[in-house]
Amino acid sequence: MADLKSFDLFVPPELSVSDEIFHLFSELINITSGIKLDERKKGLLTSRLAKRLKKFGIQSFSEYYKKVKSDNQELVEMLNCISTNTTKFFREQYHFEYLKSKVIPDVIEIKSREKAVRIWSAGCSTGEEPYSIAIAVHEAMGGISGWNMKMLATDISTKALDTAHSGIYEYEELPDDTPLPLLGSYFLRGTGEHAGMIKVKDFVRDMIRFRRLNLKEREYPFAKTFDIIFCRNVMIYFDEHMKRHVLSMFHRHLSDNGYLFLGHSETMIGNEKFKPVYITVYKKSDI
Ligand SMILES: C[S@@+](CC[C@H](N)C(=O)[O-])C[C@H]1O[C@@H](n2cnc3c(N)ncnc32)[C@H](O)[C@@H]1O
Repeated sequence: MADLKSFDLFVPPELSVSDEIFHLFSELINITSGIKLDERKKGLLTSRLAKRLKKFGIQSFSEYYKKVKSDNQELVEMLNCISTNTTKFFREQYHFEYLKSKVIPDVIEIKSREKAVRIWSAGCSTGEEPYSIAIAVHEAMGGISGWNMKMLATDISTKALDTAHSGIYEYEELPDDTPLPLLGSYFLRGTGEHAGMIKVKDFVRDMIRFRRLNLKEREYPFAKTFDIIFCRNVMIYFDEHMKRHVLSMFHRHLSDNGYLFLGHSETMIGNEKFKPVYITVYKKSDI
C-alpha cells in the first residue's frame, strides 16, 4: 500500500502564501477594517483571495498584495472576500421577541411627541437582520403610518449590500416556523424562473437605507443619535482596540434611553458605560 505521507492537496505552489506575505495581508486587513486574522486563518485567506488572483491572471500573492496596496477599488473587493457574511432571518429569535414586547413599546412612549424613531443595523451583511428588525417593528406597532421611522443598515462589504438591497433570498432561508400570515404580509413568492425565491415587499425595503460604512472609520457620519442599534456577530472578528473603538462610537451615537443589541457571544469587554438589560442587550449606564 502506498505511503499516505507522499500525497498532498492540489494547491499550485504559486498560490500558497508564505508567512511573510500572510503577515502583510493580515496587517493591511487589520489596519483598514479592524478584522483580526491570526495564523490559523491562512487557509481562509488563500482560498478566499485565490479567485481575485485568477480574475486578474496574477501569479502570486505578493503580486496581488502590490495591486491591493495601489488600487483602492481592489482593496474594497479584497475586504468583500475576507469578510464573513453568515446571517439569517430572525437570528437569535429572543432578541426579536424582546424588541417587540419591550423595546419598541418603550421607544414609542419616549418618542410619542416627536413621532420619529431611528434604528441602525451595523454590520447588516446581506440584509436578513435589518429586514427582520423592520418586520418586527411593523408587527409591534401595527404599521408605521404617522411615524417617521428611519432605518439605516450598513456594512463594509459592497457585495453583501448589493444582495441586501435586492431583498431577494432563497425561500429556505426563512425559519421553518415562519407563520404563513407573516410570510404573506412581508414577502412575495417567486414564480417561473424565480421559483423557490422570496422577495421582501417594497414597503419593507423602503423603510431601510443601505450604505457602506467601515466601522474602523475614526468618525461616523451621523448628525442625530439612534434609538436602537443592532451590531451582532460583528465585533467577534475584531481585535481589542477595534472593539473598544466601536463600543465608544456606539455610546456616542446612541440616544440616552436607547438600546444596543450585541451578538450572543459578544461582551462589553469591561466597558462600564453600558449596563445589561437583557441577554446581550444594553442601555447607557448612568456613570
Ligand atoms: C457574521 S456577519 C453578521 C450579520 C448580522 N449582523 C447577523 O448577526 O446575522 C458580520 C458582518 O460584519 C461585517 N463587517 C466586518 N468588518 C466590518 C467593518 N470593519 N465595518 C463594517 N462591517 C464589517 C461583515 O462584512 C459581515 O457582513
